[in-house]
Amino acid sequence: MEKSDKIYVAGHRGLVGSALTRKLRAEGYSRAVFRTSAELDLRRQEKVERFFQEEKPDYVFLAAARVGGILANSAFPGQFIYDNLMIQANVIECSRIHGVKKLLFLGSSCIYPRACPQPIKEEYLLTGPLEPTNESYAVSKIAGIKMCQAYRREYGCNFIAVMPTNLYGPNDNYDLEASHVLPALIRKFHEAKIRKDPFVVLWGTGTPRREFLHVDDLADACLYVMNHYDEGEILNIGSGEDLSVRELALLVRKIVGYSGEISWDETKPDGTPRKLISSDRLVQMGWTCRIGLQEGISKTYSDFLKFDVGNGSIR
Ligand SMILES: NC(=O)c1ccc[n+]([C@@H]2O[C@H](COP(=O)([O-])OP(=O)(O)OC[C@H]3O[C@@H](n4cnc5c(N)ncnc54)[C@H](OP(=O)(O)O)[C@@H]3O)[C@@H](O)[C@H]2O)c1
Repeated sequence: MEKSDKIYVAGHRGLVGSALTRKLRAEGYSRAVFRTSAELDLRRQEKVERFFQEEKPDYVFLAAARVGGILANSAFPGQFIYDNLMIQANVIECSRIHGVKKLLFLGSSCIYPRACPQPIKEEYLLTGPLEPTNESYAVSKIAGIKMCQAYRREYGCNFIAVMPTNLYGPNDNYDLEASHVLPALIRKFHEAKIRKDPFVVLWGTGTPRREFLHVDDLADACLYVMNHYDEGEILNIGSGEDLSVRELALLVRKIVGYSGEISWDETKPDGTPRKLISSDRLVQMGWTCRIGLQEGISKTYSDFLKFDVGNGSIR
């Protein structure tokens, strides 16, 4: 990418899109274009076509999606599959029609089978049944990957797809109905501290193991692959380390400064027992993760404190 190229970041207000926008600005890419979902609903084909015709972006980061934690995924599987299939089909097809030089599609590590050998390598895709709690979301993301690969084969489009692990950082979704585990823990412990609650109830057994990557590291990796990777095979992006949800909860509790107890509601689902992806291919290409988990959560909590959750300025 040249600094003068026009770059469309789809989903620029989200966790990933806002980190990409910060990174592009910091690196001197000055011609980024954005639309909120209210200005441009990417599920609407004609509107997306008109946007591409008018703006003619050179590069596209496709970070717009319907995203959520285990609760939202289980409750709204129809919305998850419809929104994601429509958003990605419209953006990928319009990128082809309007000659976008390169597109980066954001997938997710939940595309991999539930019972995968660990760490999960890229070639394990479609080798077994998916985790049932987010199957709709995973199927839509797999369709996005296959669409990028098919467009490369049939039309020669330079469309690449990356599979990040669980992400966290500024602009995360703290709505407990929709959030992922890490922002949910930050909010629950913070509110319990303010209210001086004697204990906090957390979902599941605490035994599943998860890997986390700060979103600024992800943005760095996305820019790196946009500038250095031109293959059809998907690329994992992770930190290379996992920990149990129980260990994570203790770490977040310490950073937030909450002194009450943790009670585990074991009637609630755990999700996949372990999810650690292998980022060896990306690391061999020369990229490394820089932000450690403790440092990353501390920074994220400081960012969370800048907003007033009660005011609704945090999602
Ligand atoms: N969060 C994670 O842990 C994680 C992990 C792995 C992969 N990913 C992937 O990264 C990508 C971005 O995730 P995220 O966490 O940044 O999500 P997010 O914070 O929920 O942001 C999603 C963005 O998508 C936009 N969007 C949603 N529906 C839209 C529509 N119909 N039309 C136009 N824009 C729409 C929203 O725009 P508005 O704000 O304007 O409404 C929002 O800014 C997704 O593809 C996800 O699969 C995320």
